[in-house]
Amino acid sequence: MTAPRVRAAARPMLGIRLTGTGMALPGRVLSNDDLAAMVETSDAWITQRTGIRQRCVVNPDQTLLSLSTQALQQALARAALAPQELDMVFLATMTPQMATPATSARLVDAVAAGDAGALDINAACSGFVYAMNLAASMIHAGSAQHVAVVGAEVLSEIVDWTDRRTCVLFGDGAGAAIFSRTDRADCGCLFQEVGSDGRGWKQLYCPRSPRDLPGDDHVFSGTFNTLQMNGREIYKFAVSRLEKCIDGALESTGLAAADLDAIVLHQSNARIIEGAARRLKLGLDRFYVNIDRYGNTAAASVPMCMHEMAEAGRLQPGDRVLFAALGGGLTWATSLWQL
Ligand code: ACO
Repeated sequence: MTAPRVRAAARPMLGIRLTGTGMALPGRVLSNDDLAAMVETSDAWITQRTGIRQRCVVNPDQTLLSLSTQALQQALARAALAPQELDMVFLATMTPQMATPATSARLVDAVAAGDAGALDINAACSGFVYAMNLAASMIHAGSAQHVAVVGAEVLSEIVDWTDRRTCVLFGDGAGAAIFSRTDRADCGCLFQEVGSDGRGWKQLYCPRSPRDLPGDDHVFSGTFNTLQMNGREIYKFAVSRLEKCIDGALESTGLAAADLDAIVLHQSNARIIEGAARRLKLGLDRFYVNIDRYGNTAAASVPMCMHEMAEAGRLQPGDRVLFAALGGGLTWATSLWQL
């Protein structure tokens, strides 16, 4: 007899605390008007369709590693944790510095975290939430005491700057969070879920050569090693899957939407976040939105939100916070915490 497949955590993982957050922004700001000078678009189109007003991109001297290092160092400082106390560093990214070594291994070295474990995770925009679920699971299992989770992207390196369908959407950045074991039994991960549907890979992909092309009428701008996206299909996927992610977390924990103090969604389109707020009958102030300033930074978007919220005093002990992200793969991940 085959046992039913369980992907969502059936029991809460308590005794885990968010101890510090950090963030790094690249040096160059590109406004919608800057982009309108590069491709046929306008500030009005971008703002109305996406909520994005500007995004940051790296200067030549900035890399995925330098952004990740800066974000993680700040998170360590906020957590008042010595780097060598870290047991594990996850780096969620779809733009690693090289194919090998994993950028996370260099990150461990860059922050002097001794011989901590290092693993890059590529689940596109869902990567950070995937990784925070893994961090919670490791701490809950007793195999780690302090785990750093970094989400970082240099998407400007894989954006086709002549393709207006994609280049207006993305930005670079990095965010970091540290999770630690605690004796407090009233905080931790109340629910977690990850999932994927590889049948939808053609809706968002980055082909290296002709071998990687879908071979039918799917979107291809003509430039290899750049992001190709069917915006409409991704939008439909994001809206419908997000609904399932949120409902699954609420049903499983017996909580109502109104019991959540904050909801942090991947920043892919302000309209998707506004739609979720309407459906849950919650004010938009319960959601954190910074897509207007940073665009879609894929795996970096959720930790950048977390850091800004923490700095603004919007993540308080006892708060229930739902994190959810969706992205290429297709992939999705949900993580519900009591802080
Ligand atoms: N400026 C002006 N016009 C544009 C631009 C632009 N930058 N881009 C597309 N258009 C045009 C199109 O060519 C089209 O013109 P046509 O009707 O003459 O063919 C028209 O605008 C409408 O295009 P749509 O693609 O239908 O526009 P839509 O309302 O769907 O908005 C968008 C496009 C913003 C990309 C939306 O589909 C979206 O946000 N999708 C989700 C994308 C996303 O989040 N991707 C990130 C990764 S995955 C994730 O995070 C979930």
